[in-house]
Amino acid sequence: MIYLDNGATSYYKPDSVKRAVLWAMENCANPGRGGYEQSNKAAHVVLGCRDRASRLFNCDPEHVVFTSNCTHGLNIAIRSLIKPGAKVLISGFEHNAVLRPLVDIGVKLSIAATKLFNWDDTLSSFEKFLRQGVDAAVFTHVSNVFGYVLPVEEIAELCKYYNVPFVIDAAQSAGSQKISFGDLGADFIAMPGHKGLLGPQGTGLLLCKDMCEPLLFGGTGSMSAETSMPDFLPDRLEAGTLNVPGIAGLSAGLAHLLQVGTDKICSREVRQADICAEGLKELGVQVFDGEHRSGTVSFVSKMDCEELAQLLSDMGIAVRAGLHCAPIAHRSVGTFNSGTVRVSFGLDASPIQSKRLLESLNKIKSKRKIL
Ligand code: ALA
Repeated sequence: MIYLDNGATSYYKPDSVKRAVLWAMENCANPGRGGYEQSNKAAHVVLGCRDRASRLFNCDPEHVVFTSNCTHGLNIAIRSLIKPGAKVLISGFEHNAVLRPLVDIGVKLSIAATKLFNWDDTLSSFEKFLRQGVDAAVFTHVSNVFGYVLPVEEIAELCKYYNVPFVIDAAQSAGSQKISFGDLGADFIAMPGHKGLLGPQGTGLLLCKDMCEPLLFGGTGSMSAETSMPDFLPDRLEAGTLNVPGIAGLSAGLAHLLQVGTDKICSREVRQADICAEGLKELGVQVFDGEHRSGTVSFVSKMDCEELAQLLSDMGIAVRAGLHCAPIAHRSVGTFNSGTVRVSFGLDASPIQSKRLLESLNKIKSKRKIL
């Protein structure tokens, strides 16, 4: 199979990740709940993962909170920072993991930046709304549909200048873009463990500054005589038993990234996405391409996008089609009615993948007479 759906989940994981999951299942009990060997081993896994994450994202280990996915982290962040009636600024490329919690809280939304691949427009649009006054901002680092890499460092500077707390959704950037929590100064950065960080599904990280409200209440293995959640991180946000096998795998994924370097991974993915985008243009489909694009490319053809993705699947190629849980992004770009076919490269990006995709599309075009 040619797997080009890394925007959803990275499928190729280093062997060390799989070995770490199995090792944890065979060796670990509950972390922080006992002084016996298996509990200590679990605690060691958890501490090790926090430590690796803190090195990759330049933050204190205690400010790394384990979540079950990026959506979980975003919900904690958004509910900690944003109250009903607040004025909230988001980008025109947000995922439902940002939109739905905000709508549920009942906020006044402003949408900045709807032009793809245009940093000047993105920054002037953010600045316009920030100058007008908002209570908080939540924005994605990279669009999950179009691979547009937003100028997060500059947006972060603007938020700090206007004294607006902010949350970054790093669902598509963690593992392939540089992220320094310390330098960005965000209140929260949420990310999945199962995409660019190469961990198993069911893992995620939330980097937190200070102020935070738990989403779950329960045992933490600390302050057990108290009826309220501990007021310190990470315990405040980690009620219940942690996913130790998942965290062990995530830790191995982080070790791989620390060793290889996110720059190298990013350039490998972008190189294949560039080749793919050029080939798609030659095929005559509409490709959403421009500067500041990650290893993800979206396109629209004359065929229904779901049908095309199914035909590709039948030929052994995995892509994702439709709205990608990001209706705002599709509205911004004008593809809400059609959806797009999304091709997203990962750690194993190789010329064979783009070649096979383009060959398969060519075959479909010659057989069906349209593409
Ligand atoms: N949010 C994931 C995606 O973009 C699942 O496919």
